[in-house]
Amino acid sequence: MIDLTIHQAALERNIQKARENKVVIPTIAQMEHPETIPEKIQAKLKHVGLWDVDPLNLFRITWKNEAKAFGGGYQAVPNYVELPSSLTGVPCRILAMAGKWFPTGCHKVGASFGCLAPRLVTGQFDATYHHAVWPSTGNYCRGGAFNSKLLACDSVAILPAEMSRERFEWLSQIAGQVIATPGCESNVKEIFDKTWELRQDPAMMIFNQFEEMGNPLWHYNVTGNALAELFEAVKRPGDNFAGACFTSGSAGTLSAGDLLKEKYPQLKLAVGEALQCPTILENGFGGHRIEGIGDKHIPWIHNVKNTDMAIAIDDEDSQRLLRLFNTPEGQQYLKEALGLDTALIEKLTWLGISGIANVLCCIKMAKYYELTEHDVVATVLTDSADMYRSRIQELNDLHGAYSLEEARLDHALHILALKTDSLLELRYTDRKRIHNLKYYTWVEQQGRTVEELNALWYDTAGTWDAVHAQAAELDALIDAFNEATGVLKTL
Ligand SMILES: Cc1ncc(COP(=O)(O)O)c(C=O)c1O
Repeated sequence: MIDLTIHQAALERNIQKARENKVVIPTIAQMEHPETIPEKIQAKLKHVGLWDVDPLNLFRITWKNEAKAFGGGYQAVPNYVELPSSLTGVPCRILAMAGKWFPTGCHKVGASFGCLAPRLVTGQFDATYHHAVWPSTGNYCRGGAFNSKLLACDSVAILPAEMSRERFEWLSQIAGQVIATPGCESNVKEIFDKTWELRQDPAMMIFNQFEEMGNPLWHYNVTGNALAELFEAVKRPGDNFAGACFTSGSAGTLSAGDLLKEKYPQLKLAVGEALQCPTILENGFGGHRIEGIGDKHIPWIHNVKNTDMAIAIDDEDSQRLLRLFNTPEGQQYLKEALGLDTALIEKLTWLGISGIANVLCCIKMAKYYELTEHDVVATVLTDSADMYRSRIQELNDLHGAYSLEEARLDHALHILALKTDSLLELRYTDRKRIHNLKYYTWVEQQGRTVEELNALWYDTAGTWDAVHAQAAELDALIDAFNEATGVLKTL
């Protein structure tokens, strides 16, 4: 459960600071249903850019923003891409909900909100004293630094030195401090070590996405419901919501699957990881290039008992497809050989590297369960290709310029030829083995107890279900906070 104990003195300071900085905090319910956001906020957003450092952009932490860089309002159906069978090679429908239209260009801004908001509106985090520390493999610290800035809080972003240049350039303008830890995507232990070092300073408050229950609270309620609404909006008569696949970084997004399995009990939930770092499938380790996922440990917040399948994706597949979707030659192939229309080709640039991996997981799941044209599998596109322009250039430098022939080969070899290898339908004992791996990170290294670990396995009602239901309590605290600042009335 998330601790929602009030610390009155700090809470009053936070209220005063929010008043001075004209901050209104959105509720989880408003993020699910942005049409309920007060009219005057919606009117003001018409003059605000999607990435502007303006507190009003807290109200754009929703899947339902219009796909516009400036002045966008809300829409009934989340932004998504439906990948056609001519591209995927499988008959089932694949829906991918797009994170590109969040501020920062990535949905991790939601996960970081979910972690910060409970401590801000209870006063556990004192905005006049604490620095918010965001340990991350890239996007979470971007979201955290952005939210901190909107909420007028100081921030420290921690991410591995080998993450893409785009992330560092942007962070240097937004975060109070940026710390690069040694290594790549899968070097999370080094990040944890750095947070232990920072923790010695009582002014540093760590928001560890891998263990903070605010992360699943946000995804279960906001991402889960958005995916369910998307399915309901686009389903055809007789369509069956058969599956959902999410690669795991912190495993926050996977919580959307917990909600989907409650609403659609037949749905299968798969977790994806990089073949080069097969921790879930093989207790394995290794460096890989699917930025944002796969960190050589099982996150505390992964509800493993509710996960039906584990799928590994070769990082070479996702790298190859980045060029297919984002070079003129690749796009020409998609148009001429596959007959995709221009609007869809443009939308394929909404897939970042992990988004591509997510879609490949959907294809592997579709092949395994022999899904038909009446089945739907859903996923998310955490960020977009915008975050990887430098990577595309690096690939061009490595392999030479792209061509139509290369595009045809990439499509054939890296999508159509996908098989059901490196995939495991999880039995009870498989799930338990994966859950047990948490012991080594969380109990041995990070100070959790065996009792807490066992509760995550044996006490679903008292842990996962209880956290998911805390959204209502959190929203009540957010409403009270806004009422106390009085900012909404004066906007
Ligand atoms: C690009 C990218 N993809 C996927 C993920 C994984 O999402 P989650 O942390 O919710 O498992 C992340 C997490 O930071 C990410 O940045």
